[in-house]
Amino acid sequence: MAKKIVAANWKMNLLRKEAISLFNGLSKSLLDHKGAEVVVFPPSIYLADLLQVTNTGIHVGAQNFYFEEKGAYTGEVSATQLKDLGCSYALVGHSERRMIFGESNELLFKKIKSGIEAGLHIVYCCGESLEQRELGNEKTIILEQIEVLRPLSTEELNKISIAYEPIWAIGTGVTASSSQAEEMHAFIRGVLVDLFSESISDYISILYGGSCNENNAEELFSCQNIDGGLIGGASLKQNAFLQIVEFSK
Ligand code: 13P
Repeated sequence: MAKKIVAANWKMNLLRKEAISLFNGLSKSLLDHKGAEVVVFPPSIYLADLLQVTNTGIHVGAQNFYFEEKGAYTGEVSATQLKDLGCSYALVGHSERRMIFGESNELLFKKIKSGIEAGLHIVYCCGESLEQRELGNEKTIILEQIEVLRPLSTEELNKISIAYEPIWAIGTGVTASSSQAEEMHAFIRGVLVDLFSESISDYISILYGGSCNENNAEELFSCQNIDGGLIGGASLKQNAFLQIVEFSK
């Protein structure tokens, strides 16, 4: 069975005090929490602050990193540096990185490899645009994006979760219906069977992201192939996020 994961992607939001205060609030509430693994992906400048909080049942992860281990890469941080700081997770392939920063599947594969090598658990994001969906190409696009994982070994796949985030649902308030989401999650599960095996496909968590909030999480999380969520906007509100975590049980 795939592990349940509920993750907060704070993107480029919150000032330092707000970030620390939100994390402290979540930590207090989730200290004895049983159920889904909870991960927070803050802006990278707050990683060290959050990692100093003790007594927290929350994992901390990076929204981005570069695939080289060290060297002359001004402005970048490596997976090794993130692991050394105490991070346990990282996002790779978010549509905002693909679209705004032009990250290709080839680059994303290098990031996945170096992240895993450094000891991070990677949440690999995929998702189609509205135009691609309207043309009926959503499955072809997702297949192409998931095929990036093909060269990974069984051990490496142990360190991978997938987030299906349809671009048309991100930050728009338009969520995929539970049947649209479940259809795509089941498709991704099938692709994993074809690429790897039934048992590997069974243990890879597939999270849903895209306007997932406290009002729709319960229904989304009740779907067979939805193993949790990657939450943007609603993760910036303590009560909303805690409610979403609650629905993942
Ligand atoms: P929203 O929940 O704000 O739509 O963002 C989803 C997302 O991109 C999480 O990575």
